[in-house]
Amino acid sequence: MTDPLRRLSPVVRLAPAKLNLTLAVVGRRDDGYHSLHSVFVPLTLADRLSLAPVGGHRDTLHVTGLDAGPPADNIVFRALASARAAVGGGWPGGPGPAPALAVRLDKRIPVAAGLGGGSSDAAATVDGALEAWGAELDDHARLAVAAYLGSDVPFFLAGGPALVEGRGEQVAPLHGLRGTPGVLLVTPVIPVPTPEVFAAFDAIRSHVDGAVRMSSAHLAEELRAGLTVANLVARAGVLASANDLLPATALVVPALVPFKRALSRSLGRPIGLSGSGPTLWALYASEGEAAVAAEVVRAALAAGSLTAPGPSAPFVCATAIVGHSQQGSEP
Ligand code: C5P
Repeated sequence: MTDPLRRLSPVVRLAPAKLNLTLAVVGRRDDGYHSLHSVFVPLTLADRLSLAPVGGHRDTLHVTGLDAGPPADNIVFRALASARAAVGGGWPGGPGPAPALAVRLDKRIPVAAGLGGGSSDAAATVDGALEAWGAELDDHARLAVAAYLGSDVPFFLAGGPALVEGRGEQVAPLHGLRGTPGVLLVTPVIPVPTPEVFAAFDAIRSHVDGAVRMSSAHLAEELRAGLTVANLVARAGVLASANDLLPATALVVPALVPFKRALSRSLGRPIGLSGSGPTLWALYASEGEAAVAAEVVRAALAAGSLTAPGPSAPFVCATAIVGHSQQGSEP
């Protein structure tokens, strides 16, 4: 009899960060979550995962790179357990459960930053585990696993720019981005728990007037029909204020407001907030231009002419938005 594990090889996956170019909160649901209308785009900034089948019954995780908190609490374990339960005996070595995996995670996306790093790791884990096991799940079952793991996970499982609605489970790909816009990310070292921001949003929700929803619908339509980098960058001013969570995040992290203003002054650009924050972003025509801006920010921080909130220097990173055709896994 052939050993099913011998046919299985390690699998490598990139888990990209995301940016919310718009984020409209359009309602509160009975389950306590919020209905969103948000344009999500993946970035070249990405965590890297490798998943290798091992003997034994316990999945393991080894994390390198940025601080990701206690490994035992990592969403990778929940993603493996959920994917294994969904597969059941439906893998080549079945009918027993799919084998334990040894996962290596190289963390490059700051955690609790509004960049979706944990959710992306979860999606990459599910996708990579299925391949490592030689198992398949139909789209419905994959989406169910993803939605169970977190609101942002279905977006990462789909891949590519998308309009995200509902709690996050409705993902409509947007194929019209022409080119590769650069993005500067500045993440102060103040982890912002998403639930706290939504709780603050509920306390002040009278501030929502539908303007962000309109900006979001407009951008989604343009990104569906076709939008050049120059036209996207020209819309940065509108997009920078197209986030209904901004006032709530400002309540949770008041120091972010003057920092955002100072950053905008230093760079002469509109500055947006990704998701529930605290990551701030600026759009550029290319990753090279974003890299120049990153140097300006680092120099201003070093010289003391720009002061970031938090106990240490912020994460400053030049990256780019990934269009649909560039999406994929590493060989
Ligand atoms: O689904 P996930 O665990 O990523 O969500 C984290 C928190 O963000 C939830 O507990 C909820 O407070 C809030 N949330 C929400 N509506 C969404 C997504 C997240 O209220 N659509």
